[in-house]
Amino acid sequence: MEDLKEQYDSLCKEKNVIDLTRGKPSPEQLNLSEELDGILDGNFIQDGVDIRNYGEIKGLPSARKLGAELLDYSEEFILASSNSSLTLMGNLLSAFLFNGSGDAPWNELESISIICPVPGYDRHFAICEKLGIKMIKVPLIGDGPDMNIVEDLVKNDESIKGIWCNPKHSNPTGEIYSQDTVKRIANLPLIGASDFIVLWDNAYSVHDFTNSKKLSSIQEISQELNTFDNIATFGSTSKITFAGGGIAFLGASDKLMSLFLDYFSKFNFSPDKVNQARHVKFLKNRKGIEAHMKKLAALIKPKFELVDKYLNSLPEGLASWTKPTGGYFVSFDSKPGQASKIFDLCKTAGLNLTPIGSAFPYRRDQENSNIRIAPTYVSIEELEKAMQIFVCCVKLADEMEKNLVS
Ligand SMILES: Cc1ncc(COP(=O)(O)O)c(C=O)c1O
Repeated sequence: MEDLKEQYDSLCKEKNVIDLTRGKPSPEQLNLSEELDGILDGNFIQDGVDIRNYGEIKGLPSARKLGAELLDYSEEFILASSNSSLTLMGNLLSAFLFNGSGDAPWNELESISIICPVPGYDRHFAICEKLGIKMIKVPLIGDGPDMNIVEDLVKNDESIKGIWCNPKHSNPTGEIYSQDTVKRIANLPLIGASDFIVLWDNAYSVHDFTNSKKLSSIQEISQELNTFDNIATFGSTSKITFAGGGIAFLGASDKLMSLFLDYFSKFNFSPDKVNQARHVKFLKNRKGIEAHMKKLAALIKPKFELVDKYLNSLPEGLASWTKPTGGYFVSFDSKPGQASKIFDLCKTAGLNLTPIGSAFPYRRDQENSNIRIAPTYVSIEELEKAMQIFVCCVKLADEMEKNLVS
């Protein structure tokens, strides 16, 4: 304990300021896309249209094709929008709330709930909270949500209208949903509400930094089951080119797309086609995306290896963590009750982490054990220091607890 305390005090004295709070691309990652600037070289005609003008509500055909290749979808069912897939998610849920999907608008019902696999993406939960949608958490078990629990809930609770899914390199666990899980998710509308919506946020569809399991095609499976109208797929180039400066996509059946556009087009009737054309010219097609992702992977992989190396230095039984094959996060679990202490110790030592509970609805991690580690943004040198602090704080929090108890 004394040694650990000394080590901690000397780390504090270094006055570090390190930010591991969000899964942002590093400047080096962003540099790989700087060719986007100026790539059009004055040519504003793409797919036969003047991209500077209004029009093309569903996006440029060539951008929709790019989105289809990114998300493993048919082009005809893809909408290419402006920069944020979260905007599309929020608007789709708003469309359901205000207009419904053939049945009553959700707002007219007594209670609406959505299943939230945990730990999950905080901004999914923030959307629900803002819109007054109740969240029901279900654990993720390594290859997607625990489907026995999900199916039981959906069969027995009429207020449940949907489920959030981040099926590949899930934020923050990194897991990839199994084929069986994808099938059972696509089947949920058949055992639950007829307007049940699967919110399939495939944000990390091509973000592998080492060999990864293949994700089954939700389009194919749901078309076979006749539930394609109930699947909304989302994705973007935010973690591929410029975060906040890319293209976002929605994949939806004709029926779902017209429901969405009937609502969304009142607020945005013309996407940023100039940026779409830039991306088409830069990424070109699936092969181009994959080649670009390889360059990103070369920058990202060493950071995940470094995180794993430091976590492996922890005494056995002190913690568990995920070992993703792609994506942007590692999900760390301390012994129950210790996460907020670790968070506070790290903060005092200059390491900022995502607030405890963020990966849970209403920011409540009842176990007080989950910490999301987001290693992409910082440099390798900063990450090395961050992990020295983190590992020291994990050990110290445990020692402090033992000393309190004994
Ligand atoms: C699972 C997930 N979905 C969506 C987003 C954000 O996407 P966008 O920038 O397209 O709004 C993120 C960003 O971290 C994410 O992790």
